[in-house]
Amino acid sequence: MCGIVGYIGEKQAKPILLNCLSHLEYRGYDSCGIAVSAGGLEVYKDAIRVQALEKTLPKKVNGKIGIGHTRWATHGEPSQVNAHPHCDCSGRIAVVHNGVINNFQKLKQQLSSEGHRFISETDTEVIPHLIEKYYDGDLAKATELALREVEGSYAIAVLVADEPKLVVARKDSPLIIGIGDRENFVASDVPAIMDYTNRVLYLEDGDLGVVTPEDIRVSRHGVAVDRERHEISWSIEDAQKGGYAHFMLKEIHEQPKVIRDTIGGYLSVTEPIASLTMAGDTLLPDMLILACGTSYHAALIGKYILEQLLRVSVRTELASEFNYSGQISSGSQAIVITQSGETADSLKAIKRLKEEGCPVIVITNVVGSTASRIADQVVYTRAGPEISVAATKSFTAQLMALYWLALPYAKIDIRRLDSLIMGLRQLPGKVQQVLDNEAVISEYARQLSKYKNIFFISRGVNFPVALEGALKLKEISYIHAEGYAAGELKHGSFALLGSGTPVVAIVAQDNTYEAMLTNIKEVKARKSPVMALVEEGDEVVEEVADSVIALPQVDALFSPVVNTVALQLLAYYTAKERGCPIDFPRNLAKSVTVE
Ligand code: G6P
Repeated sequence: MCGIVGYIGEKQAKPILLNCLSHLEYRGYDSCGIAVSAGGLEVYKDAIRVQALEKTLPKKVNGKIGIGHTRWATHGEPSQVNAHPHCDCSGRIAVVHNGVINNFQKLKQQLSSEGHRFISETDTEVIPHLIEKYYDGDLAKATELALREVEGSYAIAVLVADEPKLVVARKDSPLIIGIGDRENFVASDVPAIMDYTNRVLYLEDGDLGVVTPEDIRVSRHGVAVDRERHEISWSIEDAQKGGYAHFMLKEIHEQPKVIRDTIGGYLSVTEPIASLTMAGDTLLPDMLILACGTSYHAALIGKYILEQLLRVSVRTELASEFNYSGQISSGSQAIVITQSGETADSLKAIKRLKEEGCPVIVITNVVGSTASRIADQVVYTRAGPEISVAATKSFTAQLMALYWLALPYAKIDIRRLDSLIMGLRQLPGKVQQVLDNEAVISEYARQLSKYKNIFFISRGVNFPVALEGALKLKEISYIHAEGYAAGELKHGSFALLGSGTPVVAIVAQDNTYEAMLTNIKEVKARKSPVMALVEEGDEVVEEVADSVIALPQVDALFSPVVNTVALQLLAYYTAKERGCPIDFPRNLAKSVTVE
């Protein structure tokens, strides 16, 4: 949510900043801007996308130091004046910021009374003015003093016309420094700088960094600290479209490989990937899974997986709601699922769990993310960089991690265990079969694209798949969609059924089958067209439904994987038919770093 970048080196900063920003647009894309310094600051910004900004810039913007920003508005609408970078009164200090300054109103009043003039509605603008207040020729010192007055979250990069350096700091928002050869980079996230370097250093909360072309110095409260350097294993190709029309389509198609990589990374099923037991091998009696967005739907499926295989009771909660209620009983084990490892509500939940003494396993896709650093144990999914705002491959990888987390502790007989392990190993091929059926799914998507409201229904382990199918459709095609437990539809929403409201029914070959069949008939009786996702060979549902998408046979416990991939394709092609900006849906952002 908002992306920041910085460059300092021997090359012209402008093209590098714009290129880095174009890789960060998934964090926000309602406005963008850059500031470049060559003894004086030049600032260019507007409420447009990076490519469009590039066209408005003068050919020559000289300067080998610069900062840039891509915005997801929190305070103040997307506009030129609210876009970052923000400057002080003199126009010599520029700041880009990701996060929220909670006490900005108070600071703004105080600074205004001291003569500072504000022009934007943003919270960020107080930072350059505070730095100006303390600036006497030492940017790092002034930034440190300014941040002492700031309450809230921030990752910032600061530039002053008079000094050849970048000053950066973080608290509760991600920030990395990319290490080059006589040049260094600053970014919110790794994909931004992957065209230039794969060596990075992760700043920790409370760190302040001073970056020059030759040097990176990190300190906390004025005391120097050492931060480990990491080599990123992703390649540039991983973060590019690779010939696909959209990142989302590429990422959907990567899923067979993602499943292989994720389970291949967890070599043996008898070796737990994370310990669900306290000393003495007994499973902790209460489990709690927390997450947001699509990761929350993985959490809901995780509940079915763990309850079925481990026979323990599992509670799932949205991280944002858990932070208001959610009692934690002693002896609980928490699992927090977050693709980015930076979602503010999930991080807040982890901190609270830890304060209350509850061990936390984090399932995340991003090595070095905040969540991975504050967890007691980390399970990495191996989805590679996910750029499309709509999560696809990371969800599948999260499910893989959950299956693998449960299997070593499964209270099932050995034959069932063997058959599940074999089933997991066959999943990449099964998912490939779904992808091979793309043309049929895209034809159904063409039909769905004409409707205004669509329901998704299912039961059991596929109920969260209905939620995820509806979420995918609404976020990228802007069609109103609702996911429902099939048994609940008749408690109100039946009033909306009719020929203009199709229902997508997800039917698994498990103990929900008969009830789903009845539900489909009830829906049909209200004249809603029914599209059913069924296992191939299911002629019974085929007779009742208007259309079916036949999916390969898998163990019912794994059916969420193949069903979700089909629904991802359905959402993708529906959005494509409607001409929507699939990778960058309006008002959304990939990484939600504000509460
Ligand atoms: C945003 C993204 C979603 C994601 C959610 C949670 O809303 O657009 O795709 O599921 O955040 O993100 P996390 O990184 O915690 O999984």
